[in-house]
Amino acid sequence: MKYTRYVYSLQEESFYQLLTEYTKGVEILDRKDDKVIFAVYEKLEHLEPLQVQEIRMKHPKSYLKTIRVKDFLIVPCGVKTIFINPGMAFGTGLHASTQICLLLIDEFFKKGWTAIDVGCGSGILSIALEKLGAKEVLAIDIDQIAVRECKKNAKANNTHIKCIKARPQDIRERFDFLCANLEMDIFRKEMEHIKRLFKKRAVFSGIYGKDELDEFLQMLKGFRIVKIKKVKGWFGLVVEI
Ligand SMILES: C[S@@+](CC[C@H](N)C(=O)[O-])C[C@H]1O[C@@H](n2cnc3c(N)ncnc32)[C@H](O)[C@@H]1O
Repeated sequence: MKYTRYVYSLQEESFYQLLTEYTKGVEILDRKDDKVIFAVYEKLEHLEPLQVQEIRMKHPKSYLKTIRVKDFLIVPCGVKTIFINPGMAFGTGLHASTQICLLLIDEFFKKGWTAIDVGCGSGILSIALEKLGAKEVLAIDIDQIAVRECKKNAKANNTHIKCIKARPQDIRERFDFLCANLEMDIFRKEMEHIKRLFKKRAVFSGIYGKDELDEFLQMLKGFRIVKIKKVKGWFGLVVEI
């Protein structure tokens, strides 16, 4: 970001008078005799600047980081937060396959779309989808514990995700977007049912190593592969109809 910085000099007394009226930031650069050299980021009326400098500064976003101080988590505004109860379901965000999904969802999901999360676990991806502006999210899992955890997490995040115990073949509706972070064995059994659940794009993850990737690509014949992402040996894919 570019800023114009105005450097002024004032007698100490006049400077402190200015401070009582001026509500924005003032940088004191130097004090000489009874004068104060200072800088502000706008031109002051009735005063001639000693110098006008064009300076470049990093946007505050680039150095403001999320930090944890005991039970406090300080998060920069604009970052999407996901609260996860420490429960029994898969999906804390630590696993590479979940992280691949989050990255690909962030890039390829479009605000206003409907979405289904197959194998929702903790509900982490469903929550991310709603935070990205999904019109409706259905989260399904075959594990009753995952369904319970997903409901808890959906509530903790103030989201309205519908979460049910179901397999892909139980679902009749079709969605704009689908995400499925499963395992190769499950994809082998369920892919035919999963394929008919989305109308636009899908993100698949949980594919480990080149052999599994090759096999998975065979399963996706007829779809357009938009992106393949690899993290620590795990692959994730974005496909379009
Ligand atoms: C690897 S976890 C993914 C959890 C979470 N979505 C994530 O990305 O971190 C896979 C989940 O799929 C569920 N699952 C396994 N087979 C399934 C099936 N046939 N239909 C729906 N869910 C299934 C498991 O119970 C598990 O919760």
